[in-house]
Amino acid sequence: MKKFLQAFAALALIAATAHAQDAKPPLYTVVDGYKVDAETMKGFRAWRTGACDRCHGANQEGMVGPSLVNSLKTLTKDEFVKVVRDGRLDKGMQSFGSNTAVMSNIDNLYAYLKGRSDGAITRARVEEAGK
Ligand code: HEC
Repeated sequence: MKKFLQAFAALALIAATAHAQDAKPPLYTVVDGYKVDAETMKGFRAWRTGACDRCHGANQEGMVGPSLVNSLKTLTKDEFVKVVRDGRLDKGMQSFGSNTAVMSNIDNLYAYLKGRSDGAITRARVEEAGK
């Protein structure tokens, strides 16, 4: 039994080390469903500045524009960046390419919306953790 436990502990250690090497920093961190890291908070501010809620709804649930909670389940990050930057002018999605407040925070905006789409960020109005 002792031998088995030692072997098991050694294997677990190898697995943990391998995992740590693969690990990318998380896209966002959230506690209690709404206390987010500083970068994700910037994403929320970009959402507010861009007034995306006018068309996508205060809770990203969709209005004139589609639900981004749904869209981000399938849209890739590249597709997301492209549609926000270039818009789909013929379909009513405006271009934010010249909006620096949005474009300089595009990674954070993606992280925020991905957190909403994943269901990890449980309310739209987030706060910065530890503040
Ligand atoms: C004036 C209304 C309007 C505003 C403001 C707006 N959108 Fe949109 N958005 C739309 C419409 C309409 C579509 C659907 C276009 C289509 O049919 O392909 C869309 C599509 C999108 C898509 C693609 C969804 C998909 O499933 O393909 C993303 C992502 C998106 N918007 C993000 C944003 C973000 C982020 C903001 C704020 C920075 C924003 N939108 C502001 C109207 C708007």
